[in-house]
Amino acid sequence: MLEHDVIIVGGGLAGCRAALEIKQTNPKLDVALIAKTHPLRSHSVAAQGGMAATLKNVDPEDNWEAHAFDTVKGSDYLADQDAVEILTREAPDVVIELEHMGVLFSRLPDGRIAQRAFGGHSHRRTCYAADKTGHAILHELVNNLRHNGVRIYEEWYVMQLILEAGQAKGVVMFHILESQLQVARAKAVMFATGGYGRVYNTTSNDFASTGDGLSMSAVAGVPLQDMEFVQFHPTGLYPVGVLISEAVRGEGAYLINSQGERFMVNYAPKQMELAPRDITSRAITRELRAGRGVNLDGSAGGPFVYLDLRHMGKEKIMSRVPFCWEEAHRLVGIDAVNEPMPVRPTVHYSMGGIPVNTDGQVRSSSEGLIEGFFAAGESACVSVHGANRLGSNSLLECIVYGKRTGAAIARYVEKRQLPDVDEQNYLGAAHRKIQALLNQSGNLRINQLRQAFQDNMTQHCGVFRTEESMREGLNQLQQLQQQYQQIYLDDKGSSWNTELIEALELSNLMVVGEIIITAALNRQESRGAHCREDYPNRDDANFLKHTLAFYSPAGIDLQYRPVSITMFEPKERKY
Ligand code: FUM
Repeated sequence: MLEHDVIIVGGGLAGCRAALEIKQTNPKLDVALIAKTHPLRSHSVAAQGGMAATLKNVDPEDNWEAHAFDTVKGSDYLADQDAVEILTREAPDVVIELEHMGVLFSRLPDGRIAQRAFGGHSHRRTCYAADKTGHAILHELVNNLRHNGVRIYEEWYVMQLILEAGQAKGVVMFHILESQLQVARAKAVMFATGGYGRVYNTTSNDFASTGDGLSMSAVAGVPLQDMEFVQFHPTGLYPVGVLISEAVRGEGAYLINSQGERFMVNYAPKQMELAPRDITSRAITRELRAGRGVNLDGSAGGPFVYLDLRHMGKEKIMSRVPFCWEEAHRLVGIDAVNEPMPVRPTVHYSMGGIPVNTDGQVRSSSEGLIEGFFAAGESACVSVHGANRLGSNSLLECIVYGKRTGAAIARYVEKRQLPDVDEQNYLGAAHRKIQALLNQSGNLRINQLRQAFQDNMTQHCGVFRTEESMREGLNQLQQLQQQYQQIYLDDKGSSWNTELIEALELSNLMVVGEIIITAALNRQESRGAHCREDYPNRDDANFLKHTLAFYSPAGIDLQYRPVSITMFEPKERKY
């Protein structure tokens, strides 16, 4: 059995920042980081637009209180304000720390870190590295992990969280190249496993964003919080769905419908294209529904709107958002210097996740905590984003809460022993699970079932939702879950069997999808990204509370926990 003081699952920004903090706090601790891809291929590397922090380099009158207010208002007042205060107060220091680590942020002419406008932020406070900010930060962090002696297990797929009697003890992991199973025990386990964009058929997320950590936690009995809040980013490139950064609008691009109108004037007259994502995604969807979308031949009534950069000019486009230009050019043959880009909303981010306190320790219920279990980043819900995240607050969350969680773990493991784990029991169960999948003799290919599942989620629990549509979606989902027994794997091999990994991921996606719909059905109000056409108003009297969903194969039990309101009383949101 493998043994480490700390096991971190996930090689993105939150996991790497936590690992580094633990080693820098106590270099003697033995820290392992397990990732199903090479850490540099974690989805954080795809983050584009930037990281918010009130450095005041461009807007001197900015301050952390304004950042906190924008974040809480953007969250439709569901964010926990104690957690938001930590996020926004600590933001400037963590950016400077990253800079000292070597992160190459873009600069103002005087050499200070540049800052740009982003949706829902009242000041220009988003620090960036052109439109490759995640790439710039992740490379430095991974580099630093190696210098600090973190043991990296890359391309190991974690199959199970070992959680017994309210205590996390380790994980069961599978080496993708060699099909080798291992049990690893630790004094503390941290999940930083990212989001679940692949629950939907159109997403900005990479193929690895399959909600594994969320599903493993739920199956082990950990509640998931606020899973009904799924963020649609307004500008996914049509038809592929990859991200065209909000930075493009932050730098001045317009959203245009088939009539040539900047239609955001009708939805958010003050903030226009820089309204928060929930509002902008709904606006685009309403334009499409009203027949003011565009077709590929330029006629009206089509499936996308235009993102128009032409007035920005080639120099600005190529210096500030070169990657977005390149994406549109490479993927759909559009030269954004001369033509508008086709865009529509794409699933981007999970506001919900594994509930944690502000030290990253996982909650077992409204009051309790799980011993030895921590989480941070997109897989966690602390909750700084509430019902709708502001752009450029997620890199910030990964760094602030990755660091805090690392520091908390370093303190926590000082008083912990390595737990007892029955290795053979866990190895046997994992082996039987894999063999059962390899031996299944159905006639359904994984792709068919996954596509049907993703289409069902997209159709029934998307930007707009109703009771009728979600009940239909849940029904269909339960039928699709039955069909999982009928999938057939062509590849029976024991080296790099990606089909097997896809089968395991699909089962995780389905658990996450069921929790999303169930939580969404029960929230009979509209708040942030959760827009119920049958309950169009926010209902603070009944729903100013977090959902906790407890999964079991027999059904999902929902409980609620209060929101922390320390600074700003809820009021109507206007932009
Ligand atoms: O649009 C973007 O560049 C995305 C940023 C974010 O999700 O924070």
